[in-house]
Amino acid sequence: MKLIKLMALATVAGVLQGCGAQQQQPQMSSVEEQPQISSIEDSELGLDKNSVFETPEPIVATITGGEPGDNENLGAYFEGAPPPIPHLVEEFLPIRIGDNQCLDCHDDTSMIGQPLEAGDPTPIPATHYTDLRRNPQDVTEELIGARYVCVQCHAPQHDATPLVQNTYQQ
Ligand code: HEC
Ligand code: HEC
Repeated sequence: MKLIKLMALATVAGVLQGCGAQQQQPQMSSVEEQPQISSIEDSELGLDKNSVFETPEPIVATITGGEPGDNENLGAYFEGAPPPIPHLVEEFLPIRIGDNQCLDCHDDTSMIGQPLEAGDPTPIPATHYTDLRRNPQDVTEELIGARYVCVQCHAPQHDATPLVQNTYQQ
């Protein structure tokens, strides 16, 4: 019995050795024939062009614009997009339950469709008083809850340098 086991082991070892020998066969192709693999600098791996081994200070971006009333509206980037906020917003944020200062100036349904003068706040449009999910045909007097957190869709502007240039054209 022992002898048989030993022989079996020897066979297995032989086969394994054979495999190893096969793998170790020298590569026949010369260096010139191998495809050139260019390496990537670690500073080119991410959008932030720093070495991945560094922990750079975050770039601080501040919200730009003047006080409400002193700015030109920027207009929506495409039809149906929420227009960006052209003015400062720090003193109106955060928006809380029962404390939404954006409404103080923009919540005026009587001004919807009325001509505006420079410095007038654009009234919140009728779409924001319409429950598009449950009652899409009725324009109400109450702002719909889904529109309450304005900055979820309307973005204030920053002086940040984009990590990737945007080539979008209107
Ligand atoms: C003190 C009044 C006031 C407050 C408070 C205020 N706004 Fe304004 N908003 C304005 C005025 C006035 C304009 C017109 C641009 C200007 O002159 O600054 C404007 C413009 C805008 C526009 C651009 C509208 C368009 O037609 O393109 C958006 C969007 C906006 N505000 C959103 C907000 C949000 C969101 C808040 C709360 C974080 C807010 N505003 C708070 C007065 C105000
Ligand atoms: C769920 C996203 C969303 C939220 C939240 C939201 N808006 Fe809008 N808003 C839009 C979109 C999209 C438009 C452009 C299409 C339209 O008029 O409905 C718009 C348009 C506007 C306009 C321009 C109206 C015009 O006549 O040009 C104003 C002003 C405005 N919103 C103010 C606000 C204020 C203030 C709040 C918070 C009380 C708010 N929005 C919350 C998406 C949103």
